[in-house]
Amino acid sequence: MRKIFVIGSMNMDMVFRVPVVPQRGETIMGDAFFMNPGGKGANQAVACARQGAEVRMIGAVGTDVFGTELVEALQKAGIPPERIAHHPQTPTGTALILITGSDNRIVVAAGANAEVSPHQIEEGLRDAFPGDVLLMQMEIPYASIVHGFALAKKKGMFTILNPAPAQLLDEALLRNVDLIVPNETEAEKITGFSAHSPLFSARAIPFFIEQGVKEVVITLGASGCIYGNGETIMNIPAQPVEVVDTTAAGDTFVGSLAVTAASGAPVASGLFRATCAAALTISKMGAQCSIPTGEEIDRFMEECRKTRGSRS
Ligand code: RIB
Repeated sequence: MRKIFVIGSMNMDMVFRVPVVPQRGETIMGDAFFMNPGGKGANQAVACARQGAEVRMIGAVGTDVFGTELVEALQKAGIPPERIAHHPQTPTGTALILITGSDNRIVVAAGANAEVSPHQIEEGLRDAFPGDVLLMQMEIPYASIVHGFALAKKKGMFTILNPAPAQLLDEALLRNVDLIVPNETEAEKITGFSAHSPLFSARAIPFFIEQGVKEVVITLGASGCIYGNGETIMNIPAQPVEVVDTTAAGDTFVGSLAVTAASGAPVASGLFRATCAAALTISKMGAQCSIPTGEEIDRFMEECRKTRGSRS
């Protein structure tokens, strides 16, 4: 198993369960509030570590109580803290998460995540070897993301981009991406093709492939995901579960694919596992506190296979 280097955000999530989203000028009473460690980068690092991977996390926090808690959460998951920078002048990143029914709305204040620099990335990847995996998202500065992918490719790493939150991506970045994993809203925003069109996957996947990406997985929520590599396109259904909170489902999914890549197996062979891992995450509240272990995923995969077998 190769190492997985995750470069990305670390946020303290402030989660409000609310009956409705407040209108402009309106104050409403929430049903519940809790805080838990989050941030797309840290969530993905934890998802990989809980599946047994050797993970290095490169990120940044402030020298405040949230920063301390986020680093402790990573350590609890078995991730060494040395590559996390501590910035005394900048607060730790935070996210406001409003949950209504099974939907969420997230606002991130980047804080120290905005300090992750190309220099810190060079340091963080100093002992990365060919075949190791790089996994990044988009809650740190764009220039650092572009630099990270270029450097990782030079080192012969397998590179994965989860383009969340979505923004327009240029060819200088995409040519260094082996696998891109957007959700359908992100894919729509990046490619300009409507996710409601029946031709969506037939258009969105080639869009990425033509710019140098080797493999594409678009997640579709309750409809599963589509995989394409320029030769084949396949659809993998989601595993039906009761939806409690979808926060970090995408992070768990992409983390699971990173573990497949680090094991040397083809990405497509890990899609069923990734959908099972994401299903377990959405059946619990919270970000890192809802991410399953490898054993939990194994058991759930077995249950899903049995249910499928008894239906056919
Ligand atoms: O993907 C979920 C994550 O997005 C949350 O944990 C929040 O911190 C934001 O980064």
